Amino acid sequence: MSTYFLLILIFILLAINILLLQKYSRYKQRYKQQGLFGKWPIRQISIEEFDSIFKTNELGPTLATEVHFIGRGSLHVPGGTSDTEAWVLSALAKKSDQIFEFGTCTGKTTYLLAKNSPTQARITTITLAPDQLNSYERSAGDSKKSTDDAVAESAFINFLYSGTPEEKKITQLFGDSKHFDEKPFAHQMNLIFVDGSHAYSYVLSDSEKAFNMVAPNGIILWHDYRGTQDTADVFKAMNLLSKNKKLVHLKDTSLIAYRAEA
Ligand SMILES: C[S@@+](CC[C@H](N)C(=O)[O-])C[C@H]1O[C@@H](n2cnc3c(N)ncnc32)[C@H](O)[C@@H]1O
Repeated sequence: MSTYFLLILIFILLAINILLLQKYSRYKQRYKQQGLFGKWPIRQISIEEFDSIFKTNELGPTLATEVHFIGRGSLHVPGGTSDTEAWVLSALAKKSDQIFEFGTCTGKTTYLLAKNSPTQARITTITLAPDQLNSYERSAGDSKKSTDDAVAESAFINFLYSGTPEEKKITQLFGDSKHFDEKPFAHQMNLIFVDGSHAYSYVLSDSEKAFNMVAPNGIILWHDYRGTQDTADVFKAMNLLSKNKKLVHLKDTSLIAYRAEA
C-alpha cells in the first residue's frame, strides 16, 4: 500500500474516532450528567436529600408534593423546564410566600408558581420585552450563542397566566436584569428561580442579585446546568460560584440549588 493511501486511511480513522468521542461526550452529558473525563464540579444530590417535602415512602412521592401541573410531554420547548423540573418548582412554591423569577418567557413557570403557592403569596418575575432589546448589555466573556438565545427568547408580552385568576398574585417587571435594583427585595424571597439570559455575565449578575434577595432558609434554583455543550456559559458561571457558595446539582434535572442559612 502506498504511503499516500496509508495517510488517507489514518486520517479517516482519526476523524471517525473524533466523531465517536464527540457522540460519547454528548451522551455522557445528556444522560449521565457527567463530562467526558468524569463528574461535573458541582456535587449531585437527590431532590429528597435537598428538601424534606420530596421524602418518599414505600408508595413513592407523597401527597405533600401534589401540585397543579401542565406537562410538556414530548414537546420540546426551547428554554422551557422539563416535567420533573416543573414539578420540583411547583412543590417548593407550595411553601413559599415570596417568589422571584429571572426570565418569564411564556410565563408557564410563573403560572405554576402562582397556582401552587399559598393564597397570600406574591410572585415577581422580570423579563426583557421585544422593544427593549437595545438595553441588553453583552459583556466580553459572553458566548454569541447565549446572547442570540437570550434575544430570541425575548419575544413575549402576553403570558400563560394573562387573564387568569392567578394574575393578581403576579407582578410582571419588564427590563434588562442587569439594570434591575434588587435592594427593595433584600432578604425577602423564599424561592428564587434564575432562568433569564444564559450569558456568562448575566448568570453572574442575576445570581449576585438572587443572593442579595434570598430570605433566611430561602432557596435559589438555577436552570440549565448542562455541561459544556448547550448552555456552556451557565456551566462556567455556576462552577465559578460553587467555589464560594454551597451549591448542589439536583439529580435527573438541570437545576442547581442553594439553601440560605436559617
Ligand atoms: C429560558 S427563558 C425563561 C423560561 C421560563 N423561566 C420558564 O420556565 O418557562 C429566558 C427568559 O429570559 C429573558 N431574558 C433574556 N435576557 C434578559 C435580560 N437581559 N433581562 C431580563 N430578562 C432576560 C428572556 O426574555 C426569556 O423570557
